[in-house]
Amino acid sequence: MNYGFDTVINRFGTSCVKYDLLSEYGYPPGTIPMWVADMDFPAPPEVRKKLAELVELGMYGYTMMDEAYKDAVIGWFKRRVGYTPEREWIAVTPGVVYAVATAIRALTEPGDGVLIQRPVYHPFERLVVANGRKLVNNPLIYQNGKYSIDFNDFEHKLKTENVKLFILCSPHNPVGRVWSADELKTLSGLCRIYGVTVISDEIHCDFIYPGNRFVPYAALGEAALENCIICTAPSKTFNLAGLQLANIFIPNKTLRDKYSAELWRAGYGEPGFLAMHACRAAYEHGAPWLDALVKYLSGNLNLLRTALQEKLPAVKLVEPQGTYLAWLDFSGLGMDENEVVDILKHKAKLWFDKGSKFGPEGTGFQRVNIACPRSVMEEAVDRLTKNFER
Ligand SMILES: Cc1ncc(COP(=O)(O)O)c(C=O)c1O
Repeated sequence: MNYGFDTVINRFGTSCVKYDLLSEYGYPPGTIPMWVADMDFPAPPEVRKKLAELVELGMYGYTMMDEAYKDAVIGWFKRRVGYTPEREWIAVTPGVVYAVATAIRALTEPGDGVLIQRPVYHPFERLVVANGRKLVNNPLIYQNGKYSIDFNDFEHKLKTENVKLFILCSPHNPVGRVWSADELKTLSGLCRIYGVTVISDEIHCDFIYPGNRFVPYAALGEAALENCIICTAPSKTFNLAGLQLANIFIPNKTLRDKYSAELWRAGYGEPGFLAMHACRAAYEHGAPWLDALVKYLSGNLNLLRTALQEKLPAVKLVEPQGTYLAWLDFSGLGMDENEVVDILKHKAKLWFDKGSKFGPEGTGFQRVNIACPRSVMEEAVDRLTKNFER
């Protein structure tokens, strides 16, 4: 089946964050936006068909999370991800960021420590600080082009910084790590010892490159289930972010009740009508599309890797094990971040996310969203190599 991933579609003028902010951020016309994690591919045909039917219906009233919806969600995780969420675990929210904010308020008090592992998806830090909690950082170790966890520092911080909550990014955005079972078991074991609840943000779990295996937090065993909140969503997987829906799994009833009480205090009730049906259609019918997409993304990644090796070896690809985000190490060029951004913006006309956005540990890197048609990827790689070649 040809899903048309090669087709370039004009998204300008659709209030699209990725495109329509270009001039506001000072990027010249003709810039290729490869920043925010939003793909330039239409959702699976079955999702579009369902949405078209419902739009035609013309009535967009209150919607409930019914049994058919739960079956679709459970079925997806059972077939594709390797565990079976129970019906009562599921809570919906308008997104994973909303769910993380809710969990911070529900499970910690002002001044409590919340631990993150920078460089990491930047809203985590913002949410901790905005909610008046103490930011605790366990920086990842970057050595020989690979990222790993500093477990000694992790344990030390849990012990000494009054940490009550750990926000795990699994797979990790932006460094592309898919954590191993051993790494996850160690983290989970330490969190249990020190009474820390784990938010496992698994929004990127459907993008895993060949040779790697995603280990869901829920597969770590009964004990791990008792102190975790697992965040999932169809939004990255099927390009539905603008519909605003996430499925949050909370196995432990006490945690679930606290979380639901906080949702209620915020006044959130039911999922959006179109979002819920889109998610259901995607989880019921989207698997072949996703398989084809992951193959296509591997092709884009190969293109980027080869071009850097052949034409710009000073810029290194930190090999991603998952996600459609490539983390490039520009430090070999000996330029500071502003210089790199300046060339990207004004000469190459490429909009990447600068590494320091993900914490100071990301300085010297750029994050590149590779979820675009092949011809766009080719053009971007060409502009990148030509403008930085010496
Ligand atoms: C790790 C991670 N979590 C959450 C989100 C955003 O989730 P949502 O749009 O559901 O709030 C993103 C988006 O890029 C992400 O990378």
